[in-house]
Amino acid sequence: MMDKIKEEIRVTNGRYRLGYHLMTKGGWMNDPNGFSYFKGYYHMFYQYYPYASEWGPMHWGHARSVDLVHWETLPIALTPGDMESGCFSGSAVVFEDKLWLIYTGHHYIEPGDPESFYENQNLAYSEDGIHFTKYEGNPVLRMPSDNTKHFRDPKVWQEGDVFYMALGSQAADGLGRALLYRSRDLKSWEQVSVLAKAKNLKEEGYMWECPDFFRLDGADILLMSPQGLEPDGDRYRNLNQTGYLIGTLDEETHTLTHGGFREIDCGHDFYATQTILTPDGRRVMVAWMNAWDSPMYEKADGWAGALTVPRELRVVDGTIRQSPVWELKQLRQEALHDGNLECGRTYDVPRTSEVLLAVQDIGEGTLLTLTDGTHTLTLTPDHACGRFVLNRTTKDGERAAQLHELTHMTLRIYIDRSSVEIFVNDGVLTFTERIYFDADVRLTVHTGAAVGTI
Ligand code: FRU
Repeated sequence: MMDKIKEEIRVTNGRYRLGYHLMTKGGWMNDPNGFSYFKGYYHMFYQYYPYASEWGPMHWGHARSVDLVHWETLPIALTPGDMESGCFSGSAVVFEDKLWLIYTGHHYIEPGDPESFYENQNLAYSEDGIHFTKYEGNPVLRMPSDNTKHFRDPKVWQEGDVFYMALGSQAADGLGRALLYRSRDLKSWEQVSVLAKAKNLKEEGYMWECPDFFRLDGADILLMSPQGLEPDGDRYRNLNQTGYLIGTLDEETHTLTHGGFREIDCGHDFYATQTILTPDGRRVMVAWMNAWDSPMYEKADGWAGALTVPRELRVVDGTIRQSPVWELKQLRQEALHDGNLECGRTYDVPRTSEVLLAVQDIGEGTLLTLTDGTHTLTLTPDHACGRFVLNRTTKDGERAAQLHELTHMTLRIYIDRSSVEIFVNDGVLTFTERIYFDADVRLTVHTGAAVGTI
């Protein structure tokens, strides 16, 4: 009897498909993986399940691009099954003219019990950047004895002729941490240090997913997604958060001296970042444009999940700023409106568009509304408490953050059918949101004097 061949799920309704964001051609996506540059192409991999619009045994989906804007979907790079039950998140580096993927092998122990598993680190390689072979010597790294089963998401980078790996882990005492390893050949690894570790559960969590470590503008930064932080006023309102520790790496001990954890995006739909150092020296970040508790209405249409636009990072005054990569400008078409915006008037905004605004003399009450009549997003300054508040017409729709400058500000808003990304004051503050517009959008600036381009 012939084995039943599984069929990949197809998109059945295009209503929420995004115009310029990377998504699957059908099926589920979560974290970006293996963001790299090889033989003239940017490569992006992602956690992928091709057979349903739900999370399942993890594959690595694959796309490439010459400009970070137009992505071409390639064949699946990694399929679980022969060496592991899931190919979990990881990264990619170029070594000896090959593209190497370093991924977590996730292994279930007790059938039917998702909490019974172990994890280790593995390699796959490719000469053409399309077809990948798992390394026969896998796994290349097993868990140390002072660790629980949580041991995943390797981010590897090269310094001279040494490769380093930051790895997400939970110490045996139950606290989240990032481990640092090094290797000369990607195949044998030795632990260098515990790069950083949570001081307590409430503020820094029990497991640090997707760590990424880099130096930018004179600061050392550990970007990661800790699990288990408790909501604290406006902070930590999603199920899990993504943010960073910023400080200085001690060259002797290889530990990071740092301040408190800061969220990098304050919206509902942002998780599991990964960065690349581009050939021209920019630090560019992408994230999964969802969270584990996002409703993801596109599931009904045969797909789920997308990545944010690539964002260039800079550090200014000890804080990360984000701006959409300049390559996105090539998508601009003739402006529908350019100049002063009349306060209180409604402007039509296509469901795929960019809005650039500079607003002065901002008063009390709602500053801006975006609505299709049913789904509404508002931005409101809270002058009394120095907060900037986003509201989405959904359950638990409010997200907010402290913002120093509330009477005048710049806003860059990227709208793409079922997503809105907002960059406030040169990306000091960002909100990433999925909002499922099903008709054209109207924009109103309610207070202040605005100049803008739509
Ligand atoms: C983060 C994460 C990773 C893991 C992957 C599994 O969203 O939980 O820690 O490798 O997703 O899909």
